[in-house]
Amino acid sequence: MEKGLYDIHNHILPGVDDGSEDLKMSMELIDMEYKSGVRNIIFTPHYIARSMVEKCRKMSDDMEEAFEKVKRECEKIHPDMRLKLGNELFYSDRIIEELNSGRAHIMGKNDKGNRYILTEFNTDIRHQDMKKAISRYQMSGYRPIIAHVERYDCLYKEYDIMDELKESGVMFQMNTENFLEGIFSSNKKYCLNLIRNGYIELISTDTHNKTTRRPDMEEAVAYLSKKTDGKILQKILYENPSAIFDS
Ligand SMILES: [Fe+2]
Repeated sequence: MEKGLYDIHNHILPGVDDGSEDLKMSMELIDMEYKSGVRNIIFTPHYIARSMVEKCRKMSDDMEEAFEKVKRECEKIHPDMRLKLGNELFYSDRIIEELNSGRAHIMGKNDKGNRYILTEFNTDIRHQDMKKAISRYQMSGYRPIIAHVERYDCLYKEYDIMDELKESGVMFQMNTENFLEGIFSSNKKYCLNLIRNGYIELISTDTHNKTTRRPDMEEAVAYLSKKTDGKILQKILYENPSAIFDS
């Protein structure tokens, strides 16, 4: 029996980034997630390492506090919803130090020594710089998941580079918005091909609000169920996220 769907990339925690504005909105977003079949959420507020350690410490404390508040509320309404705190790390020279200090959060850690982290870059980053950043993470003992991999210019249809990253242990996450009707539809075919060809390990909502970037897992899953192989979907929807969440 499946434990419900997973959403391991979203901005649902209140008041800590450009996502949910307050606790009320966060609870509405969680409700939308619940209705779309999600039962496991890793919250991933943006973590942008600033120059001052003090500022980072404050940001980290605010996130922990917001997480505890949401957890308490959620237990009253949806006691079967499992919640964890992670981060979407914007890569910079300082980010490893933030991870090592525990101010920035990993997504999970398993007994094979994998410490999963979710990371993003400027979308116009050069592939050489992305690879350098990835190897810095890896040499420090972290296993990167690249957030919304479909957005990077340097990876677009660059299958050799994607292969190389994958072989080094990188995981790729894609946003569900690619599979909805509307502005992102021109990208649909490319994204679907990435999934069909086994490039994508995870799909997530990257929820920011209730309208334009909303919890839309159900819609994406309905589309992908019609268009892809069940075995691939089983991995993307359950096995891979569970290996991270339950680690
Ligand atoms: Fe995000």
